[in-house]
Amino acid sequence: MVPGIVPWRAALRSRHLRRRLCTAVRRPLVLGIETSCDDTGCAVVDGAGRVLSDVVHSQLQVHLDHGGIIPPIARDLHAQNIGAAAERALRDAGVSLTELDAVAVTVRPGLSLSLLVGLRHARLLARQASLPLIPVHHMRAHALTVRMAAPEVAFPFLTLLISGGHCLLAVAQAPDRFLLLGASRDDAPGEALDKAARRLKLRNLPECATLAGGRAVELLAARGDPHAFEFPLPLSQYRDCSFSFAGLKFTAQKLAASEEQRHGVVASGVVPTAADLCASLQHAVARHLCHRTQRAMDYCQARGLLPDGARRLVVSGGVACNGYITSCLRRVGEALGFEVHVPPPRLCTDNGVMIAWKGVELLRVGRGGTHDLDSVDIEARSPIGTDVSQDVADMSLKCKWVKLTGPAAQPQ
Ligand code: KG4
Ligand code: ZN
Repeated sequence: MVPGIVPWRAALRSRHLRRRLCTAVRRPLVLGIETSCDDTGCAVVDGAGRVLSDVVHSQLQVHLDHGGIIPPIARDLHAQNIGAAAERALRDAGVSLTELDAVAVTVRPGLSLSLLVGLRHARLLARQASLPLIPVHHMRAHALTVRMAAPEVAFPFLTLLISGGHCLLAVAQAPDRFLLLGASRDDAPGEALDKAARRLKLRNLPECATLAGGRAVELLAARGDPHAFEFPLPLSQYRDCSFSFAGLKFTAQKLAASEEQRHGVVASGVVPTAADLCASLQHAVARHLCHRTQRAMDYCQARGLLPDGARRLVVSGGVACNGYITSCLRRVGEALGFEVHVPPPRLCTDNGVMIAWKGVELLRVGRGGTHDLDSVDIEARSPIGTDVSQDVADMSLKCKWVKLTGPAAQPQ
């Protein structure tokens, strides 16, 4: 606790700070900076997992206008916003730079141009206040966020990370020790949902105009029939934990085109069967994710990777905001005896909180970052951990799939 760090007038205005007045701030106090993709996130988190500030500047609308993320545009927007976002995060938290214990920043994986903006700003702040800099792996940070509010999620646990750029299954053994069981061979699920939303022109529906593609698909899917259109089951002949979403993306785009033709829809029109198509695509994505996750659960069991009686699955990343997908995963968890943990949607998408928290976790295990600021660099590609996907494939586990719809199955 730093005595007197909270300005009282600011404190009374802020919900976070009002809460803080009742509970002492716990060390370490870390500023997290996230710029790996299209969100500029800055946040201050304390050692008890309390969020003292959470600033996210989203570039979503600009990228929706361009039909996807254009790296130099993303970089320029990060550069325009990072200074104000970091300042605001400190102001909202009621702390000055010198009162922090460290600055944590995403350095891998991600878009190089975007990562560089965050790293340079983090270096600047760390230099100004002689603070250590903690380099953070974006995907590991997604996996650990849930532990802020649910400390009972102890290591090791299984994690499924699903976003616009990533899809992987891993076992988290420690804050910086992961085993990779499988990843996508091509696209991520968010990419398939985003491109389907774009091809269906969902932006032209007022209720979807400002939504991320995946969220727009979910909204429409709620009033559609998940069995109206047939989608292939990717990689069904491979008994491993790898993923593929390119086929689902292609099928969705092809179906959108043929439905437009069938219904004579032109220009900015949306096909009348869009809800059914969204529901069917969402179900196909959920089914593929569930199958690979079920095999990962069996693999963990076969290799004794998780403690009996405390088997947990953590789902995170932007696509984990999807209630249909997580409810299907919960059914798989229930049937196989896994607790399923999903952070609240705000913490599933990219944000500075998860980066700050990862910094806290690393400081706790003595991996406290570095004062040699120039030794920290970015890496566009970076595996989450030791790759055991060949071992998963070699075991060739045959699974009896848990039913995702209808009455729930009994736990095994
Ligand atoms: O983790 P994230 O914010 O950024 C990346 O690292 O990619 O994830 C963004 C992705 C986008 O593809 C977006 O469409 C998807 O998450 N997403 C959703 C939902 N909300 C965001 N996908 C499905 N259902 C949602 N409700
Ligand atoms: Zn992410």
